[in-house]
Amino acid sequence: RHQILLDVDTGRDDALAIMFAVQHPDIDVRAITCVAGNTTLENVVGNTMKILDLVGAPPIPVALGARRPLIEPARDASWIHGEHGLGDVELPVSDRSVERMHAVELMRRCLMEAEEPLTIVALAPMTNLALLLRMHPEVSDRIKRVIFMGGSATIGNATAVAEFNFWHDPEAAHIVLTSGIPLTMYGWDILWGMRTSSEQIAELCASPNPLRQTAGRLLGFKSKDPSDGSVVVYDAIGDAGVLCVMVAPEAFTISRWPVQVVLSPGAARGQTLVDRREMSGEDAVHTPAGPIPVIDVVSDVCESEVLALFF
Ligand code: BDR
Ligand code: CA
Repeated sequence: RHQILLDVDTGRDDALAIMFAVQHPDIDVRAITCVAGNTTLENVVGNTMKILDLVGAPPIPVALGARRPLIEPARDASWIHGEHGLGDVELPVSDRSVERMHAVELMRRCLMEAEEPLTIVALAPMTNLALLLRMHPEVSDRIKRVIFMGGSATIGNATAVAEFNFWHDPEAAHIVLTSGIPLTMYGWDILWGMRTSSEQIAELCASPNPLRQTAGRLLGFKSKDPSDGSVVVYDAIGDAGVLCVMVAPEAFTISRWPVQVVLSPGAARGQTLVDRREMSGEDAVHTPAGPIPVIDVVSDVCESEVLALFF
């Protein structure tokens, strides 16, 4: 069984990921930590609890983490995820209570107390994770791997070249990328390849099962781009795909590539530089700033297999 810590900014597709993680028989969610990203920290926590109720999850410790990135101001994605982060899905307010400790402390305790190293599944800007590694570097040995949604080997979504989670907190992404912990990147280029069809969404929405119905509404929500009023569609299973990488790696192609994130100000800030040249490999490329870490990068996927698993 995969013992995991889940770091989220719930978010429509984080919600799909929580549904998947809690229900999958091979996944044991030890704790959920929240961070500002898609929406405010308060919305993230509220949404997370509502989804846990909907899934009928057992008690899982949930803690509040960072309210903003390390350097940037918080910039939400309400134009994709809706005003409160769950599109137009309204669920009863949960009476689950949050842990009386910061997310960083909850992660530290879970890691130190676990019988064996845990996998961290990071679905949000990596602020909580970066703070954890800086405050408690001793936990590194207790982390089996970080599998994250973030970055992109090709185009971006927040900007032409930057994926939202990396763009939101590039310094945090840099701290995690250079941590030496085994990493698996599932980027925007892969995420956006796993979209659902309008027929699949309609089928989910028509289901008598409230969980499937909610998944359908989360996938089918359409918002308006504030800049030009055009309709924004986000019908990918998104963050839920990260859990699929963990439980069904055979459905994905993984490459070993040097990866870094652009920290300099300007149009490329937050861009992922994935060195896909043939010369790249286990020998980290050396730069004046030091070696560039070589990590596992999801480079291809069998979409139908993963979507079938998700459904
Ligand atoms: C990522 O950012 C958020 O919008 C999603 O929840 C996902 O984690 C996509 O760039
Ligand atoms: Ca997310």
